[in-house]
Amino acid sequence: MVSVADTETIRPELEYLATAAEYCFRGRVDKSGYSGPVIARGRGSVVFDVEGREYIDFNSGMMCAALGHNHPRIVEAVRESCELIIHASSSLYNTKEIELARRLARVMEPPLKKSFFLTTGSDANEAALAAARKYTGAAEVASPHVGFHGLNDSTRAVTYGVPDWHKGYGTGQTAHAIFAPYCYRCPLGLTYPKCEIACLDASFELLDAQTSGPLAAVITEPMFSAGGVIPTPPGWLFKLREAVHARGALLVLDEEQTGLAKTGSMWMHQQEGVTPDILTTAKHFGGGMAISALVTTPEIEEGVVSRGFVFGHSNSSDPIACNAALATLGVIEEESLPDRALDVGGYWRAHLERLASHYEIVGDVRGRGVIQGIELVKDRTTRTAYYEAGPRIARQCLTAGLIFSVRRGGSVLRFVPPFSTTHAQMDHAAEVLELALRDAQTALVNE
Ligand SMILES: Cc1ncc(COP(=O)(O)O)c(C=O)c1O
Repeated sequence: MVSVADTETIRPELEYLATAAEYCFRGRVDKSGYSGPVIARGRGSVVFDVEGREYIDFNSGMMCAALGHNHPRIVEAVRESCELIIHASSSLYNTKEIELARRLARVMEPPLKKSFFLTTGSDANEAALAAARKYTGAAEVASPHVGFHGLNDSTRAVTYGVPDWHKGYGTGQTAHAIFAPYCYRCPLGLTYPKCEIACLDASFELLDAQTSGPLAAVITEPMFSAGGVIPTPPGWLFKLREAVHARGALLVLDEEQTGLAKTGSMWMHQQEGVTPDILTTAKHFGGGMAISALVTTPEIEEGVVSRGFVFGHSNSSDPIACNAALATLGVIEEESLPDRALDVGGYWRAHLERLASHYEIVGDVRGRGVIQGIELVKDRTTRTAYYEAGPRIARQCLTAGLIFSVRRGGSVLRFVPPFSTTHAQMDHAAEVLELALRDAQTALVNE
């Protein structure tokens, strides 16, 4: 531990890290040690650390700053709520919550209309599963084997995409995994579309054998983000909804990553024409402020309330967070963010495809809108995953001023540039990434 007397002679980062080592708990997502950078401020698509170094943030914070860090409209809404009221009893309705519910219904596919505002993405998914259980009277739920829905107990139970985040917590008693349509590595060794989505038939055959009672819900993302940027193929979601409804269960769609314009439409399910029974949203919904929502139909809402459904936490529906979310919906509309997602995402995707044409270790390029990823392989024919490369590439890029995340145990690089990202920033990011890819490819050749 560094003493206060020493601080004038040392660099601020070392001081912060020493203090972190003394006081901060390490068990957090993607970080188990004490290392820099230590972030101090941010604006638009860049963040700055305590040493004044600048980073292009292709992780959009934790995907919550997709509008750009400290978007002026969010700052204004927060400031307004600081004058009016920050927190209110969630047992009473407040003006901002009611305005937000009405505003959100305007961008929903009917009959989705009734909103419940919570704080985190995990909360909203937990509430969705609780509502599905109350509505159906069933306990068991299922989700695809590369999905991620949160790290509270009920959502960790249906999170299979990162094994370390699932195993060892004793949460899985009423949850089951089904095959995700991970077509680059088809679990059945088939090829889409000739497969006719056989992975779903196989999944439900197993699920029907495994469940000990009726099924309450299947929860899924329309594109598996944390599981490795894996878009579901056309037709999968439709077939899933049919299979779920045939069993009297509900389809819960977790659009916390993919919703609110990121994939080029307001919601990704609109691209498939498949409306879920319950939708959840979070991440940049609050423009950086923590707020999530569950949205469902009046029929389901009536059904669960009449059965005594209660959910919520002390900060559910807080006016300050609802006001920020209102500002976010305004920004999405006024700045045509679905179009921006296609522009930013398309430009970055072109860079990734160019890099794939130069570097053999890039086995696959995939994603939608501003959520894009590459899968690293040692051999394009065998598709042997190049797990060691991801963390090395990410570290090298971080040192050079580019932030992104690494998924699938190291073999997938995931990029989520904020909507505010300029072409010049993407050109620069591509240069940084190219150097690291070149080094990783050279390391493989020399292995
Ligand atoms: C698809 C998805 N669902 C749920 C969550 C959990 O959200 P939170 O971390 O806000 O609880 C995440 C977080 O990354 C996510 O990506």
